[in-house]
Amino acid sequence: MTRLTITRPDDWHLHLRDGEMLKAVLPHSASWAGRAIIMPNLVPPVVTGNDASAYRARIEQALPDGYDFTPLMVLYLTQQSDPADIRAAHEKGVIQAVKLYPAGATTNSASGVKDIDAVMPVLEMMAECGIPLLVHGEVTHDSVDIFDREAVFIDTVLTPLRERLPSLRIVMEHITTEQAATYVAAADSNLAATITPHHLIINRNAILAGGIKPHYYCLPVAKRETHRLALVKAATSGNEKFFLGTDSAPHTDPLKLQACGCAGVFNAPNTLACLAQVFEQENALDKLEGFASMNGPRFYGLGVNETHITLIRHDTPQPAPAPIETVDGQVTVFDPLMEIYWTIDS
Ligand code: DOR
Ligand code: ZN
Repeated sequence: MTRLTITRPDDWHLHLRDGEMLKAVLPHSASWAGRAIIMPNLVPPVVTGNDASAYRARIEQALPDGYDFTPLMVLYLTQQSDPADIRAAHEKGVIQAVKLYPAGATTNSASGVKDIDAVMPVLEMMAECGIPLLVHGEVTHDSVDIFDREAVFIDTVLTPLRERLPSLRIVMEHITTEQAATYVAAADSNLAATITPHHLIINRNAILAGGIKPHYYCLPVAKRETHRLALVKAATSGNEKFFLGTDSAPHTDPLKLQACGCAGVFNAPNTLACLAQVFEQENALDKLEGFASMNGPRFYGLGVNETHITLIRHDTPQPAPAPIETVDGQVTVFDPLMEIYWTIDS
């Protein structure tokens, strides 16, 4: 048995939902993450400073006693977003960032941005105030193959945007391609990227080979193996531009397992165990703390967590986490399709 103690990690991309689902999933993140960037794609979305304050209060209320967890709130950018409201919310410390969903890109993104020109006043204000823009980096045109949507986004949206507003700080969320990993690594320090545990572990075969497996369907969709290998290389490289964003996105099994199933992988319960396994396989356990606990706060201009967490490497494979129960049905936890020898010391 080996023990690995690291600074407490954060999750720089998390879907907590609301109501009963929020109560059910929150402890699974708060048990290991000191802070999390909370995605605003509720129905209706979190658009104003007041929406963010109210949502933060609901998260704090749902947190059981004994957890030390800080939600970092994010506003959902719409073509009606008010720059003055966003600026005020940032100055009051209510929000940490603003999220750009191209309209139609993913779950609850109908209110997203169709025309980037329409949100330029907001983006200019954000560049001036140092508010990070988090991007779901996929184009949504029917003419673009779903496996190419991230690479096309880089060429047709991200590069022009960065040329137009070089001082805007941008996080390319949940990258899934070699193109994105290479692009971010080569960019200036205003661009960084989050990587999910599942995109480090599965390729598109997990979704499509040997029968269709809706639990592996998320957006951006997992790509071919060469891309997964590029992501593993980026995450384990020690490069400060890459950090952990789980994109843990719970949907009940009835909503996943249907003719048109929802996109999202729920990985909060086993994120750290899966990450430790990947980093161990790469002989890069010394880089895990940077990826999970250091690089994110550095990009966001925050201090690192003061507490620590210990991971235990057992001699035998550890049991997979059970599904979690909610009033609307159970939520299946990400199955990494490999043996996991790590647990978190409780
Ligand atoms: O797979 C995904 N699920 N990707 C997203 O971008 C959104 C998320 C969700 O909210 O379910
Ligand atoms: Zn997400």
